[in-house]
Amino acid sequence: MQTRNFIDGQWADSHAGRTFENRNPARHDEVIGRWPASDAGDVARAVAAAARAFRSWRLVPAPKRGELLFQVGRLLAERKEEIARVMTREMGKVLPEARGDVQEGIDTAFYAAGEGRRLFGQTVQPELPNKAGYSLRQPIGVAGLITPWNFPLAIATWKMFPALVCGNTVLLKPASDVPASATLLFEVLEAAGLPPGVVNLVHGSGSQVGDPMVAHPDIKVLSFTGSTEVGKRIAQQCGGTLKRCSLELGGKNAQIVLDDADLDLALEGALWGAFGTTGQRCTATSRLILHRKIAAEFTERLVARARALRLGDGLEAGVDVGPVVNAGRIPAIAEYVEIGQREGARLVLGGGAARDGELARGHFFQPTVFDRVTPGMRIAQEEIFGPVVALLTCGSADEAVEILNGTLYGLSSSIYTRDLNRAQKAIRDIEAGIVYVNGPTIGAEVHLPFGGVKETGNGHREAGTAALDVFSEWKTVYIDYSGKLQKAQIDS
Ligand code: UN1
Repeated sequence: MQTRNFIDGQWADSHAGRTFENRNPARHDEVIGRWPASDAGDVARAVAAAARAFRSWRLVPAPKRGELLFQVGRLLAERKEEIARVMTREMGKVLPEARGDVQEGIDTAFYAAGEGRRLFGQTVQPELPNKAGYSLRQPIGVAGLITPWNFPLAIATWKMFPALVCGNTVLLKPASDVPASATLLFEVLEAAGLPPGVVNLVHGSGSQVGDPMVAHPDIKVLSFTGSTEVGKRIAQQCGGTLKRCSLELGGKNAQIVLDDADLDLALEGALWGAFGTTGQRCTATSRLILHRKIAAEFTERLVARARALRLGDGLEAGVDVGPVVNAGRIPAIAEYVEIGQREGARLVLGGGAARDGELARGHFFQPTVFDRVTPGMRIAQEEIFGPVVALLTCGSADEAVEILNGTLYGLSSSIYTRDLNRAQKAIRDIEAGIVYVNGPTIGAEVHLPFGGVKETGNGHREAGTAALDVFSEWKTVYIDYSGKLQKAQIDS
């Protein structure tokens, strides 16, 4: 595997020659590789290459750009297993989930490729005679993509493929926990035959690579997924030059379980939503809002099932929950356990690092459940990004929705009920970008908009045709074929 940047169609070390190490979070002694610790100089080279390539890429017919993405999708499918294994080794998610992550990239490639034959605008009937009016999408320029470690393929491709089909060129900075997955993606892009400079990859930290990207005047659109704290900083900086930025930030997603719900189903959903990907999804279920009538039984069953989850190296068959992404996450999650206890919530399962036997070789955190949580507690308000779920209770569907809405965030949500009326009201009243009925808070598909309200973002959406709005400008065209000056809106 390459362990370099990819700039202007060439694999290259960072100009300063510094590197950083990437290790397996399930086996800390296993080094996966060393990648360039790049800086503003590398960003400048990559942006210059992307800006040059933009001059011709924007003129390639969109269906042709789409054909290249079809090829990318086919090559990703061929290398799916290999990429998934590398992903599990570098960020820990269990292999079936890593395969799913790659699949999301494949789906996005085919979806965006198809958009090459659509990219529809509107044609209207103008109000004046002998005149035509229509709108068309145009690319913006160089797109800067700053992506997180929890979905190394899915999120990078959600941003990149719509950007490319619209005719932009891109610079990707993957999170420094996942350089290997991003590198394999770029091997595929290279093999698919994308022209030099159309896609560029620069590895490194947020401060050394991310900040210079945000500041670079030739990056015309910036797309970031990460914490709300960093997102706000990026938005402020982009505000200075009115740079377009699309931000996908934190969540505090809740699953509601009403007294009429299918409890077996709701239990499966809660386990998958809270502990899948070790709770490290923006869409993870970090709150369960249980109707009082079923709360005691549900809690007991949830704790029993969560206790039986098998922790371990995600490459091993039968492992349910992999490690957290790096050593720093253990104290960060443990701090929330302390906060929860101080606030008076009751810790009913887990609460600390798991170090038995083989687990001592990596960074594992026990599946953790708090009950007797009240809506104002910090563990009910703040994103923890780990295998920790807070249980709250409610007396009605309305109260459940009120609790669900009572945070700064609004990404994903879920309600389990058999009552159609209650479900419909919840769909209407929940303040979130995504609502699931009788399904967990995780598992969005790539052809519908993905994103959230309130402090989860700044109003943009990824995936679906909504992603095209981030990466294109509308141009409105009027053609007057009357041969005389016609004045719109003026009485004649
Ligand atoms: C994320 O956690 O940032 O909906 C993305 C899901 C996945 C994507 C999650 N398809 O859970």
